[in-house]
Amino acid sequence: MSETEFHGRVVLVTGAAQGIGAAVAQGFAQQGARVAVVDIQKEALEAAALKLSQQGGEVTAFPLDVTNNEAVAQAVSVIEQRLGPIDILVHAAGVLRMGPIVSYSDANWAATFAVNLNGVFHVSRAVSERMIPRRRGTIITVSSNAAAIPRMDMAAYATSKAAVTMFTKCLALELAEYGIRCNIVSPGSTDTPMLRSMWADEQGTQRTIEGSPQTYRTGIPLRKLATPVDIANSVLFLASERAGHLTM
Ligand SMILES: NC(=O)c1ccc[n+]([C@@H]2O[C@H](COP(=O)([O-])OP(=O)(O)OC[C@H]3O[C@@H](n4cnc5c(N)ncnc54)[C@H](O)[C@@H]3O)[C@@H](O)[C@H]2O)c1
Repeated sequence: MSETEFHGRVVLVTGAAQGIGAAVAQGFAQQGARVAVVDIQKEALEAAALKLSQQGGEVTAFPLDVTNNEAVAQAVSVIEQRLGPIDILVHAAGVLRMGPIVSYSDANWAATFAVNLNGVFHVSRAVSERMIPRRRGTIITVSSNAAAIPRMDMAAYATSKAAVTMFTKCLALELAEYGIRCNIVSPGSTDTPMLRSMWADEQGTQRTIEGSPQTYRTGIPLRKLATPVDIANSVLFLASERAGHLTM
């Protein structure tokens, strides 16, 4: 991948204050893109954007709650006014609220779907209505391997990821005639604050790699966690011209 592969491209990354979204933003910034980063954590987002700018990237922070439809439409409009037409959209914002189904609260259920599914719908709709007349653009959703594998204490999360995976495929089908590609990256366990929030102690890495028969988790054959950069590399490939015939 050349260091100028995304030179001048406008990229919108959600959930970019930390973890996978931050690594995606960094990857695009390092390759010359003009990156709009959004996240609900205002201060962490601004700190992340500042850090990338100090490394020479062109990165601007737009604090945003993706569950707020009106705020999303407004933010997308402001981003295009300030940076130009969005060429690449990456959905990395997500929440994980664990718990068994029988005692899972309505609030946790609603919050999970509000971010992991509705947020992707809101941002996709606002951006794709602008991409369609330009007949240009690509959209990548960070889903999860939990979209396809049942997990103990993760019903809301896994169901929201299965739904957003299908949403992105339907979006790809509707946008294909305009030359807009939509793809999904489904990470396994990746070393971010979200993954670490699942761990009770320092043995978390080893237990995740080993798997646990009690919770029907198989472990990781490569015997290592993914890094946020590993996932970002897949996102950057899907956004690149080399993936020009990949959609859905
Ligand atoms: N870490 C993993 O093991 C793993 C595995 C599979 C999939 N994923 C997915 O990858 C994506 C990134 O996860 P991560 O591990 O970097 O998690 P993370 O918790 O470290 O980062 C997620 C980011 O999303 C932001 N966010 C949450 N709600 C938001 C909202 N309403 N509006 C805007 N931003 C919001 C958070 O503030 C945070 O900065 C998520 O969609 C997650 O489900 C992660």
